[in-house]
Formats: sequence, C-alpha cells, structure tokens
Amino acid sequence: MAREFSKVGVVGLGTMGAGIAEVLARSGVDVVGIEVDEPALDRARGHLASSTARAVKKGKLTEDEVTALLGRISTGTDLSALSDCQLVIEAVPERMDVKAALFAELDRLLPEDTVLATNTSALSLTELATGTSRPSRVVGLHWFNPAPVMDLVEVVRTVVTDPSVVEDVGALVAAVGKTGVIAGDRAGFIANALLFGYLNNAVKMYESKYASREDIDAAMRFGCGHPMGPLALLDLIGLDSAYEILETMYAQSRDHRHAPAPLLKQYVTAGLLGRKSGRGIYTYAGDSSSEVVPDALTPAGSAVDATPRAVTKIGVIGTGTMATGIIEVCAKSGYEVVFRARGEDKVAGVRKKVEGSLDKAVQRGKLTEDVRAETLARITGTTELDDLRDCDLVIEAVVEDLAVKKALFGALDDVMKPGSVLATTTSSLPVIECATATSRPQDVVGMHWFNPATVMKLVEVVPTVTTAPEVVATVLEICAKTKKHPVLCGDRAGFIVNALLFPYLNDAVKMLEAHYATIDDIDFAMTKGCGHPMGPFALMDVVGLDVTLAIQRTLFDEFREPGDAPAPMLEHLVKAGYLGRKTGRGFRDYAKR
Ligand code: CAA
Repeated sequence: MAREFSKVGVVGLGTMGAGIAEVLARSGVDVVGIEVDEPALDRARGHLASSTARAVKKGKLTEDEVTALLGRISTGTDLSALSDCQLVIEAVPERMDVKAALFAELDRLLPEDTVLATNTSALSLTELATGTSRPSRVVGLHWFNPAPVMDLVEVVRTVVTDPSVVEDVGALVAAVGKTGVIAGDRAGFIANALLFGYLNNAVKMYESKYASREDIDAAMRFGCGHPMGPLALLDLIGLDSAYEILETMYAQSRDHRHAPAPLLKQYVTAGLLGRKSGRGIYTYAGDSSSEVVPDALTPAGSAVDATPRAVTKIGVIGTGTMATGIIEVCAKSGYEVVFRARGEDKVAGVRKKVEGSLDKAVQRGKLTEDVRAETLARITGTTELDDLRDCDLVIEAVVEDLAVKKALFGALDDVMKPGSVLATTTSSLPVIECATATSRPQDVVGMHWFNPATVMKLVEVVPTVTTAPEVVATVLEICAKTKKHPVLCGDRAGFIVNALLFPYLNDAVKMLEAHYATIDDIDFAMTKGCGHPMGPFALMDVVGLDVTLAIQRTLFDEFREPGDAPAPMLEHLVKAGYLGRKTGRGFRDYAKR
C-alpha cells in the first residue's frame, strides 16, 4: 500500500512550481506554496489565474473546479508552514548552491519522514540527497513545462534512494493523472539529455546566421510535426534555465555539443530570459505572454528582392514516392505537369498512384469530381527528357546518388530552354554539385520536400553560392501557390531539419546502448514530455535505419563533430538487415505484432 501524500509543499512558484501546484490541487491534494516575498507570491497567483483561466476556456475545468482548486493552495513566505506536509517539492532556480541551501534548511525544519523532492532537470540528485540527513528519502520529480498540460514526470532515484519512496511518489504521480518514468541520476535524465543537444544545436544554427529564427522554428514544426520550434521552446523553458541545464550537462558529459551556445549566454546576461521576461529569442506582448510580437528581426516582406520568373509548366523527373507526390501537388495547384519516367510501365504506375490519391480525396469530400478530372488532365507522362524542354521549372526527384544526379543535370543542361529553373529535391547531397554539372549554375536551386509531399507543408529552399535571386524568388512563389511553407537555408549537409533531427535520433540510440533507458521509456518521454508526434525509435523505424545511418554519416562527414559519430548499434542493426518497418524489424519487431 503506497503512502498517501495528502498535503504537499511546493517551494518556488515560478512557471514550473505554480504548474506543479496546479496539477496537485486539481487532483484534490492540499498544497502549501512558498515563495521568497510578496511580489513573487503575486506573480505566482497571476500564473495560477491565467493557467486555470486557459483551462476553463478550453473546457478542461469548470469555474467551480477552479475555485475548489485554488482553495486547496495556501501560500506564504515562511518555510515552517511546510511542517505537516508529507512531501515537499522544490522548484527554485536551477543552481546547485541555491538548491543545496534550501534542502539543508528543509532537512533541519521538517520531520525526518518527510520526503524531499527536487524538480531539477540536470543537477546531481545524489549530491543534493547526500547533503541531507535523509538521503534515502530524497527523489527527483522532474516535470515538463507547461506542467498542467504535459503528461510526463520523470521520477529520479539515486543509489541510496529507498525503493519504497520511489514507489510512493510514483503512485502520487499516477494519482494526479501523469505518467511517471523512472530514471537514474544522470544530467538531463531521459528527455532533457536528448532535447538539449538539439536545442543548443538550433541556437548555434541561428547564431551562425545559417537560417532565420522563424525559418528554423517553422522547419521543425512543419517538417517534423513538433508542437513548437526549438527557439520558441527555449523561450518557453527560459533561457536562463536552458543555460544552466546545458552547463551541467556539459560538466558531466564533456561533450562540447552541450557547451551552451555563446548567444544563449548573451541573452541571459542581458536579462532577456524568454517569455517570462517578455523578450528572449523572440519578443512577446508582455511578461509571461505567449503572443509573439514583431521586433527589429521580424522579416518584412519577401525574403528575396527579385522578380520571379513566370512558371506555367513544371517538369518532374522520377517516379518514386516523392516525385509522385510533387506531381500531384503541382497539378492540383493549377500547373501543367510533365513527368519523365524510365519506362512506359512506370508512366502508367505514377498515373495510377495519383488517380488513387485523388480518388481518396474525392471520397473524403476534400475534392470535387471536376477538380479531380482537371488535375489529371494537367498531367502528362513521358519517357523522353526532350519532352520537358519547354518547362519553366524542372524538379528532379531521382535516386539519392550524386553520380546519377550530376549526369541528369548535365543532360538537362543540353535539353532545357534557356531560363528554365532546375531544382533538385536532394536531402543530403550538395546542391552545388548539381549546379556545376551544368553550364548554367545560376538557374540551379535545392527544393527539399517532405514525405508525403501531399501532406507535409514544409519545403526547404536551398540557394547555392551561384544561384540567381530571381531563381529563389521563383521557387518561393511556387511554394506559395502550392500552399507550402518555404524556409530558406544554405547549401550544407542536412539543411535545417535533418541537421537538427538526426543527431538527436543518434543520441537516442546511444542512450539505449548505454542501458540508461529502454526504447519504450525513451519514446514515451519524448512524446509525452515534449509533445513530439513520434518518439525517436518509432520515427527511425519509419524512416528506415539505413536512411538514418546514411544521413548521420553525411552529417558526420560534413561537420566532423565527434559526438555525431553514428552509434555503433545503428551500424550493427543496418548490417543485420533490421531496417525498420520496411523489413518487419528495426528497433522494434513488427512481424510479431
Ligand atoms: N490545465 C489543463 N489543460 C490545459 C491547461 C491547464 N491549465 N492549459 C491548457 N490546457 C490544454 C488545452 O486544453 C489544450 O488541450 P487540447 O489540445 O486537448 O485542447 C492543450 O493543453 C494545449 O493548450 P493550448 O491549446 O492552449 O496551447 P497550444 O496548442 O498553443 O500548445 C503547448 C501549447 C502545450 C506549450 C505546446 O506548444 C507544446 O506541447 N509545446 C512543447 C512543450 C515542451 O516541449 N515542453 C517540454 C519542455 S522541456 C521541460 O519542460 C523540461 C525542462 O527541464 C526544461
């Protein structure tokens, strides 16, 4: 029988502490909330009021429930008010000296069977626990922001934690409607250890002016279905907390990918801490507001100052999944489309697939019969490259093999009318290699679509050092007309999405390899803690382990970052032919399900 925690203290009522108090009180637990002074308590009441108002607006709570919830939270500035709490959770700033001093005080004031918990994300729980007289009754309870919304709580134990205490707090986590994952004491636990390398990488990408903050965030939202882009998420977490978490992770891992990006330090020093201070990487309508308002860095007007070339006819080369999707999207948007296949059977195959997809849209009421017929009438298949001669834009979506692509661009150079824009959908090869295979490198550009092209909104637009501005403008206009969201980035491995996503996936494999957490725990932590549509292992099994490995190798070759060396386990699985869903087995076994 788990110990009941009917009265719980929360020390520090910032974003996280107030959120934790709300979750506990919502489930009938009496909460004693402590802050340093009255202004801080006022801010905490403000947090509680706006969060619960949001819940009411969204139909998650009634006004009566909010009144009862708030009635269960008493607040004050004196730690002795915690004396009859069975559990005290601290959520004060992420600094060892601050937390250790608080734990020393709580240890002195509270009965010896009171359980002490810390919401630390990265600091050593063992150090905090052994600094008290009750190390076996100290645990980590790591919540995710916003605590009332995110389902995950990491329950952290040390080598001296009493297993029954872990069980008891685990039962409380379940009782307040959250799902606990048990983790050992390692900087970042499961979710942050994977998340923060990715977030730091995004700041470095932004700092290097490789892409704008808006484009980096849009790329991860529209390309991976994340609820927020990494830079907006950092503003939500707080840049000061992020900085401290990265510092601690770096101190433990000595992996310089965890060394906080210098830009992060500059924001923190300048007091631009994210949403909570009204300004961070973005600017907000006010302190603690989630509404982004324009600032000096907000792009005004079009990303390129050039007149697009007129496009009425688009050529597509290839018959794979990407090519087929692109053909459908372009034809649906009113363009005349000519596609080139390597044989008549493939021409017929593409037509059949596009017909099937349009039929489905008609059945679902998303398309009328007339639009279906008009779309199909705009599509012509051919086996001759010559038939693409008068296309205003050609999109190449053939196999990801540089020799094949270079030969194709050489052939296009011979065939295409002057001024035609030549685009490659490569996701990992240098666009400049395709450009220099022609005598018109100014007309060549990268246009990286996401699979399935009919659904995913993102297109990474990649000018090389030789691409003419009007060529970029032309591609941006095509994106607008096909209702895609373009992001601009330079011609380097992985562009935005793959460069940020795959090192994170590789890190997940390394965490598994280190036996720190299971596949299910890691996938669960990232979906429930960060709102990702899929956990890293589920995603790799869909993408294909061979594709994952190839992309990770390309990134490693380009950036020579030791931490990005492909995980040996990934190499072994690929060698064994366990490539993911397509072979029935990858990280998980699909054949047996
Ligand atoms: N109580 C209960 N539910 C609430 C609520 C409350 N107080 N406030 C909002 N909700 C619900 C809403 O009803 C809504 O639910 P439905 O989708 O079922 O309608 C949901 O929460 C989302 O709320 P909103 O629609 O108001 O907001 P949104 O759609 O703009 O989402 C977000 C906002 C939840 C922050 C989302 O963008 C998201 O999930 N972002 C990722 C957050 C993330 O990654 N957090 C982890 C950061 S790492 C961390 O925290 C650990 C660390 O140590 C730093």
